[in-house]
Amino acid sequence: MQALDPFEIVLFGGTGDLAMRKLLPALYHRFMAGQFDQRAHILACASSAMSRDEYIARAAEQCRAHLDGVAFNEARWSEFASCLDYQQVDATRVEDFKALKTRIAERDAQVRVWFLSMSPSLYIATGTNMAAAGVATPNSRVVLEKPLGTDRQSAERINQEIGRSFSEAQIYRIDHYLGKEPVQNLLALRFGNALFEPLWRRGRIRHVQITVGEQLGVEGRAKFYDETGALRDMVQNHMLQLLCILAMEPPASSDADAVRDEKLKVLRALRPINAENVEQKTVRGQYRAGAIDGKSVVGYADEPGVPEGSNTETFVAIKAEIDNWRWAGVPFYLRTGKRLQQQVAEIAITFDDVPLSIFPNRAADAPNQLVIRLQPDESITLTVLAKAPGDAMRLRPVNLALDLAESFKERPMSAYERLLMDVVRGNLTLFMRRDELDTAWRWIDPIRAGWAQSGNAPKTYAAGSWGPAAATALIGRDGYAWRDEL
Ligand code: BG6
Repeated sequence: MQALDPFEIVLFGGTGDLAMRKLLPALYHRFMAGQFDQRAHILACASSAMSRDEYIARAAEQCRAHLDGVAFNEARWSEFASCLDYQQVDATRVEDFKALKTRIAERDAQVRVWFLSMSPSLYIATGTNMAAAGVATPNSRVVLEKPLGTDRQSAERINQEIGRSFSEAQIYRIDHYLGKEPVQNLLALRFGNALFEPLWRRGRIRHVQITVGEQLGVEGRAKFYDETGALRDMVQNHMLQLLCILAMEPPASSDADAVRDEKLKVLRALRPINAENVEQKTVRGQYRAGAIDGKSVVGYADEPGVPEGSNTETFVAIKAEIDNWRWAGVPFYLRTGKRLQQQVAEIAITFDDVPLSIFPNRAADAPNQLVIRLQPDESITLTVLAKAPGDAMRLRPVNLALDLAESFKERPMSAYERLLMDVVRGNLTLFMRRDELDTAWRWIDPIRAGWAQSGNAPKTYAAGSWGPAAATALIGRDGYAWRDEL
């Protein structure tokens, strides 16, 4: 693989969880794949005082633990570590940014990626200090991690502050779901094949389900999670992005703005959910004690760090509707939660059934289904009816299944590997534009306001289940069921 032009990554939050678990391993993989030029440089920044050697030792230990089954190579790690450096930066001190600017000046001609992987509460201060110290160069790009704000207004403030140093074309709002290989495959499926497009619409598709289930709980992130909840942690970003990729019109090209224009139209066409209909269109839940894979786990309220009486939702199910010609009347059911029965992310598209069955033994209602699995395995499965062997004409569902790991033997790139290299290359296609983010918040904020106004607490569900019974009722009212409940 060819090395990319020399780049520098300035990694704020360099000692944090995301940097250690995802970003550094991703960079190490890209280094191993030969994408680092000799001048490539990674400068990790965080508020702790630490020497370069201490940082590298810590990073080595973490990378070893998080390399996704790939063996850690000591010799190659040392080569990689020679690109690594550390600088103490307190995001609230402008002097620290000035010192940083001087330190990196010798690389000003290189592409420089400012990756803000820090507490979202520090975004404003960081933006202000970056502008005051004048750190941005024409070759700079800035990457903003989610969550970008807690509502429309706070997101706008962050955008404004970051916008003082960077133009929109320099801002990369990351949503790691867009970097996942199967999401790329969804684009390939829709726009690389002629087969599906004529079917991809009302009159052909009955309903769509998007499920992102996690067995994990809040995993030591209680403070962040309790202030955030499932709607803002997962739906505002990951689930809406999946919905956009699924529902958008074919873009005229794969250019960033061609794709983002189409996604934006989907977000704009989402039917509002507010105090009037929030009870019919949404369900929020919170897990109580239960068992995951046979092991008992505590309820959310008893997780260390969760404030007493918390009403934060750890589960949400939504019936979303897209008011445009393609999708009018086709419900999109979204469902995500912590401590659910399975760790799984998938999209299930149920087509309309045949208009008339000519086979006496055919089930009364047996529509085809296309299931796109994002994780844990990556697969695309189309359920079709086939004749079972034997004398009688009996139809049975069978799967046309594509196991992507089987079909392509190469190790798939992790979402962060792809997205980081896209930033270095200057490819904005898989990043959210400001108006997309704003429109997503416009849809999310009234849902939260509706919940607050209703005064109802989230419904509880046992850890290890598929969420509250009300979620079954939400889809059941339309005569359908969640795929796992069939
Ligand atoms: C993050 C959320 O954005 O996505 C987490 O903050 C969640 O709460 C995670 O666990 C899920 O990502 P993935 O890639 O493991 O499905």
